Amino acid sequence: MNILAPSILAADFKNLGKQLEEIKENGAAYVHIDVMDGMFVPSISFGMPVIKSIRPATDCVFDVHLMIEEPIRYLKEFKESGADLITIHYEACENVEATLKEIRDLGLKSGLSIKPKTDPNVVEEYLPLCDMILLMSVEPGFGGQKFIDGSLERAKELRNIINQSPYEIDLEIDGGITLENVREVLDAGVNVIVAGSAVFKDPAVNTAKFMEILNERN
Ligand code: DX5
Ligand code: ZN
Repeated sequence: MNILAPSILAADFKNLGKQLEEIKENGAAYVHIDVMDGMFVPSISFGMPVIKSIRPATDCVFDVHLMIEEPIRYLKEFKESGADLITIHYEACENVEATLKEIRDLGLKSGLSIKPKTDPNVVEEYLPLCDMILLMSVEPGFGGQKFIDGSLERAKELRNIINQSPYEIDLEIDGGITLENVREVLDAGVNVIVAGSAVFKDPAVNTAKFMEILNERN
């Protein structure tokens, strides 16, 4: 099943409630929520208060992408704020296994993300603890960046690693996804598409356009 996960980092925060309605009405199943701490990545975005305030506004899956150091410290608070799925970074955890286990113990879906320069093979040992793998196709920290060359090959590599395992695991990609490159990304084996700037310039129209392409292959 191909899923669209619009990243609200690119949303108009003075109209966030309305924009959440627009993406939901036009077929988005996930809301991608980029939490940045200014340490693991150079910028700071938002945290639990924003998640808590928008939780009642939509029944979309809250796909929370933690770009923070040692996320194990905050998992319970993100669950209490309304997260459904928490993705942590391989590069940000002292103990990846313990962190993924804690997400599962909290009754949430778990995701593991790797940065563009991290070897895709590092995820293999953690597959038993993952519902999703997130491939960064930009250096994490900012929306509106260009899709990094080589990301399609890395996506294919990750899809192969997942398919050789006994687990049903989604592959999500994040960064520089547009209506122009989304087809080749889907063809590489990705099935969860994060898009921020490509959606929120006109949330209703662009969500519908992305869903048309995703549904061609569903
Ligand atoms: C970057 C974030 C991405 C970003 C996507 O660190 O993880 O989710 O917001 O934005 P676009 O789609 O504009 O690259
Ligand atoms: Zn993200």
